[in-house]
Amino acid sequence: MYKRNLTSANFRKALLLAVDPHAAAPPAALDRALRETQLAFDGVAAAYDRSNAENATLCAMRARARQALESAVAPGARVLDLGCGPGTDDEPLAAGGYRVTAIDWSRAMVDQARRRIARAGLEDRVDVRHLGIHQLDALTPATFDAAYSNFGPLNCVPDLAAAARLIASRLRPGGVLVASVIGRVCPWELVIFGARGQWRRAAVRFARDFVPVPLEGRTVWTRYYTPRAFVRVFADAGFVRVSLRALGLFVPPPYAHTFAQRHSTLVSGLQRLEDVAGAWPGVRAWGDHFLIVMRKA
Ligand SMILES: C[S@@+](CC[C@H](N)C(=O)[O-])C[C@H]1O[C@@H](n2cnc3c(N)ncnc32)[C@H](O)[C@@H]1O
Repeated sequence: MYKRNLTSANFRKALLLAVDPHAAAPPAALDRALRETQLAFDGVAAAYDRSNAENATLCAMRARARQALESAVAPGARVLDLGCGPGTDDEPLAAGGYRVTAIDWSRAMVDQARRRIARAGLEDRVDVRHLGIHQLDALTPATFDAAYSNFGPLNCVPDLAAAARLIASRLRPGGVLVASVIGRVCPWELVIFGARGQWRRAAVRFARDFVPVPLEGRTVWTRYYTPRAFVRVFADAGFVRVSLRALGLFVPPPYAHTFAQRHSTLVSGLQRLEDVAGAWPGVRAWGDHFLIVMRKA
């Protein structure tokens, strides 16, 4: 399916034009990329939560992202979760006193999130909506104290500059963005795929534009960012950087969880090292993800 749908040079060219603000955007290409990403996440929604919970690396990354949000805004704050998936973070946030609006572009993820929130009896604190980040103008402006986006939903947005403006407009003055974003330079990935001679796979994050990434037989259209490029886009929308750290720099990436399980003592040590050195200038730009906090000026 991935090959049949997406290796078409014409489609790719049209899509690259579509994400270039200076080009006439062919909406069909853009819509098709968004639709394919939506289908891909629909396809994994039912199993997503369980597979995440079973992966200690993902759990550790998630804990750090949520901790960053909880340090930035106090319970009672209004939080907009961008690309909430099955609501994994929304339940503990709501249980901790946050008022959450959770949006996702995948209908199946939204259904999962609604079920989870209903099971927890937290419907009065979490409003789950089937909405893309590119459709944020459907929400009331200047409502939220924080926007939160965990595990890369912002990498799936075709036009990050437009998304940054929409996010800024939904935040109150002084509001924060806490995002974990898939980074461009992941040393572990270069080693893992380089050692197997899979150079194309090793180089996938270096593509400049939107690239098709396979997910369980479907495709997620993804764009990889350096923290610098990401900050530049959000600075244009009125944000200033507050903090930045790497996630998955010394710790192997989540898909290497078998290795991590086998070498749990080593990985615990690497996690401690990452918690100390992951925010150091130079290395904080590398890693599987980066975790960034920005404030709307
Ligand atoms: C890797 S999952 C992360 C889910 C969740 N944030 C978490 O922490 O588990 C990425 C999520 O982003 C959503 N997504 C992708 N493109 C999106 C878009 N344009 N607008 C909103 N959500 C999007 C997907 O449907 C998926 O649920």
